[in-house]
Amino acid sequence: MDFAFSEPSIDYWIQECSAATENILLAAAGLGLGSIWIGLYPLPSKIKPVRKILNIPEHVIPLGAVYVGYAGEIKEPRTQYNEKVVYWQQYDPARKHRARHKNMKKL
Ligand SMILES: Cc1cc2nc3c(=O)[nH]c(=O)nc-3n(C[C@H](O)[C@H](O)[C@H](O)COP(=O)(O)O)c2cc1C
Repeated sequence: MDFAFSEPSIDYWIQECSAATENILLAAAGLGLGSIWIGLYPLPSKIKPVRKILNIPEHVIPLGAVYVGYAGEIKEPRTQYNEKVVYWQQYDPARKHRARHKNMKKL
């Protein structure tokens, strides 16, 4: 955790653990299993009970959990791809897809 929380890449652990989570979901699918990503961090109300049940110490932050099992149903593949929110090569401010939000952090 000392390595994960060292500057300047202090928040990278979220991306790294998210990529690992996605790989677990893909591996489960490859084994013919069903799975679901359960988001925990940054919500204390979700982190606290999981910490207690799994005996996770305070210095370890659970980003999420993955449920794995035998799927009760197989759904048709679908997409949530939305071309309106994808930019190629350069951002286009003229295309107002309401990306700005009042709670957004300025970087
Ligand atoms: C960051 C993240 C957190 C999620 N947390 C939950 C969750 O807490 N509970 C849940 O039922 N599904 C959760 N999901 C699953 C999504 O709701 C959705 O079912 C999943 O991304 C599959 O999308 P698809 O149906 O387009 O394949 C989460 C997904 C992501 C990416």
